Amino acid sequence: MSINLTSVLISDEVDQKCVNFLQENGIKVVKNTKLSKEELLKEIANHDGLIVRSATKVTAEVIAAGKKLKIIGRAGTGVDNIDCNEATKRGIIVMNTPGGNTLSAAELTCTLICCVSRNVHSGDRAMKEKKWSERKALMGSELYGKTLGIVGLGRIGKEVALRMQSFGMKTIGFDPIIPGEVSEQFGVKWMQLEELWPLVDYITVHTPLIPQTRNLINDAVFGKCKKGVKVINVARGGIIEEAAILRALESGQCGGAGLDVFTSEPPADFTLAQHPKVVATPHLGASTSEAQERVAVEIAEQFVDLNKGKQLFGAINANAMTNALSEESRAWVTLGQRLGQLAGSVGGQSTGTIKVTACGSSLKEAKSYLGAAVLAGYLATRQQPSGDGITLNLVNAPVMAKEQNLQVEFSQTDDCSGQYSATVTVKISDGFQASGTTCSGGAVLLSLQGQGFPAPASLSGTAVVFSAKGSPQLMASISGAVAGESVTSLTLSSGGAGDRWGVATFLAPPSLKNMESLKGVTTTMSAVTF
Ligand code: NAD
Ligand code: MLT
Repeated sequence: MSINLTSVLISDEVDQKCVNFLQENGIKVVKNTKLSKEELLKEIANHDGLIVRSATKVTAEVIAAGKKLKIIGRAGTGVDNIDCNEATKRGIIVMNTPGGNTLSAAELTCTLICCVSRNVHSGDRAMKEKKWSERKALMGSELYGKTLGIVGLGRIGKEVALRMQSFGMKTIGFDPIIPGEVSEQFGVKWMQLEELWPLVDYITVHTPLIPQTRNLINDAVFGKCKKGVKVINVARGGIIEEAAILRALESGQCGGAGLDVFTSEPPADFTLAQHPKVVATPHLGASTSEAQERVAVEIAEQFVDLNKGKQLFGAINANAMTNALSEESRAWVTLGQRLGQLAGSVGGQSTGTIKVTACGSSLKEAKSYLGAAVLAGYLATRQQPSGDGITLNLVNAPVMAKEQNLQVEFSQTDDCSGQYSATVTVKISDGFQASGTTCSGGAVLLSLQGQGFPAPASLSGTAVVFSAKGSPQLMASISGAVAGESVTSLTLSSGGAGDRWGVATFLAPPSLKNMESLKGVTTTMSAVTF
């Protein structure tokens, strides 16, 4: 699957370096950060790429309006303003710049921890109001010796831990993916949340906002913590339930909060942000010149690298494409798709398992893309339930297959006996079996239903795949039937008097008349346009 980006729309405030880099690499850029929803729906149709920060809501409607859209890039981390499921369904790559703003977000988290512990915000307010006497009410507490609970030990969680350890804080944490042996390396003692709550003086959250993390910290959790626990959220509004923070601040169960993010931004209700024990910032985690420059350059570089077929970095929904960009892999992707099409057209439609076997050491890395390629070809021969002009590719084929109860079982062996150094075999449960290889960048069929072709059949243009009763005159009869057509190859499997398989390839779809004549000399026949 190659990506040919010609024009990119940037609809949010992204550093100019992004525009410059894309243009220097021959990609047209339209930057318009003032589009209304209707204008965006119209404009998006002209572009094959879209770059946003968090202001543009890339809804299913916007994605559907992007008829040419191939890639959506987020100059930043969170992709919660992008309907990733819809993009995946439509075969559109979604990518972010995962590390570009990590340090800035970590530094703001540490800043908020310090502010909350020393009432910096209240002190500043008092000074601005010339109320020196308020200093008595602004007694703080040291961070030294206190315990910081870090929920989410990914990029930002780790950097926060490393920085707060220099204040003498003990760092403990939880993450379902990062194991204790790993977190130990950056000084965080891993534990389950239920163990962590009673131990912490401060909690900071660094997870995405997903169903499992929405309202993760709520009334019940505050109840399990020490009185006066302080909470920090520089991740996403709603991970700590806002109403629960207010109630805990009022009761004294929560001793202070540092909040950069809110459930709705700007908040519909500023009560929480205005609370005297809250230090609030308007989503400033990534708002540093360094972070903004980094994410802008990174997203532009990722677009250009993909466009040049160099590498795919930062994609969150395109696993199957990771190793599929080189010219060599692309030929195997094409073969996989075409064998899949053949399986769907000749083998019929089944649910269950498609077995894909790659043979040859050069296909060691093929697992990630070959199964998806076969699925894309196979599913393309089916009426898609979600229709809507969606083209199947490596991004959407795996999810479409799942929806249709279809699985791929992939195996690879280094040893490829026979005359080819690498081959791919596709088998489906209803008895279909085909093997192929690549030749000068093209896909060719080596065998069908267990019968080998002495001369590989080209899988290009339109192929008529047939079975016919073997006889010495068979080749002559078939040649006669397709005479006068733009036939590019005609191949018969070796065999005797039983049924034999054959493939006739045409530059353009054969005429009805020739299809009728072919019918007269074959037992089964399917036309496949590749
Ligand atoms: P990351 O992907 O590196 O780390 C997130 C971690 O959360 C992962 O390790 C994941 O396993 C963990 N996680 C997932 N579910 C969990 C759960 N139920 N309990 C505990 N941990 C869980 O992401 P990151 O770059 O560290 O970013 C973290 C968050 O910060 C994201 O929500 C991101 O959008 C946000 N962010 C905000 C700003 C800002 O401006 N305020 C800036 C950058 C990132
Ligand atoms: C992010 O997820 O990257 C942040 O929220 C920062 C931003 O708004 O870009």
